[in-house]
Amino acid sequence: MDIGFIGAGKVGTSLGRYLKQHRQHITGYYSRNPLSAKEAAEFTGSKYFSTLNEAVGESEVLFLTVPDGQIGSVWTQIQDLPVAGKIICHCSGLLSSAVFSEISQKGAFGYSIHPLLAVSQKFQSDQSLSQAVFTVEGAQEKRAQILRLLKVCGNPVVLLDAGAKEKYHAAAVMASNLVLALNYGAQKLLTECGFAPELAAKSLTPLFLGNAQTAADKGLAAALTGPVERLDLMTVSHHLSALEGADREIYRLLSLYAVELARQKHPQRNYEELKGRLEQ
Ligand SMILES: NC(=O)c1ccc[n+]([C@@H]2O[C@H](COP(=O)([O-])OP(=O)(O)OC[C@H]3O[C@@H](n4cnc5c(N)ncnc54)[C@H](OP(=O)(O)O)[C@@H]3O)[C@@H](O)[C@H]2O)c1
Repeated sequence: MDIGFIGAGKVGTSLGRYLKQHRQHITGYYSRNPLSAKEAAEFTGSKYFSTLNEAVGESEVLFLTVPDGQIGSVWTQIQDLPVAGKIICHCSGLLSSAVFSEISQKGAFGYSIHPLLAVSQKFQSDQSLSQAVFTVEGAQEKRAQILRLLKVCGNPVVLLDAGAKEKYHAAAVMASNLVLALNYGAQKLLTECGFAPELAAKSLTPLFLGNAQTAADKGLAAALTGPVERLDLMTVSHHLSALEGADREIYRLLSLYAVELARQKHPQRNYEELKGRLEQ
């Protein structure tokens, strides 16, 4: 398939290179800033498109890898070009293909194709894409072609309904951004206990990395340690008394999730009393 990109940022550039490495034909790049498009074209051995018309004309599949807030307006700019029969994709985790309004009237087919991965670099993240699960949502008609494309790359693919995208994206945020936010909360508590800020961050690193590695190797339940897992009601009660406001609420609600994991790890243990304390 001839695959072109509008938006030569981190995802557009990395995905183009990744697809090229899997023997897909990348036609080229159009971007707001011509320099971005030229750099991406060079990186992927493809063309620089100076107009949207060229990008549309030369591509059977077009990825609109622009920021989420720009996808609708880029679609508006290209929808009256000859898009009939083409596959139009974006890579937003949140938005569905419904952002391509009235696409069926134009004879084109819309998809949201999301790599479940933080893509932080333009020119170094393409290798990490091999680890990503991709989600695909969109029109039935050309879905098989999209699935074939991702299968060639060897990535696991999950099909999503448009209505699931918001919850799906919230889950991704919980697992990545909010884990960082939780560590930030723990750092703040350590500084209240007298740690210098830099030492607070450093002290938590072995806990953070060790847990992440064990969870990746053995699963969340096997990685779980601590007072909830040990059924240590006294320690949990002291923690709840020591914490206030949002910190107490975050601790309490996440401990209820920890109870669910602890039950998976120790189905023979009775966590009811601990759960009751956490629900107060
Ligand atoms: N980064 C991630 O971790 C990640 C992961 C999964 C999915 N995504 C999704 O991937 C998409 C792209 O994100 P990104 O992180 O690659 O963003 P990004 O690095 O900011 O790249 C977006 C690119 O689009 C270009 N652009 C902006 N407005 C444009 C317009 N109106 N017309 C043409 N080009 C325009 C920018 O232009 P110039 O450089 O030309 O100025 C920029 O290079 C988003 O939908 C995002 O949700 C991102």
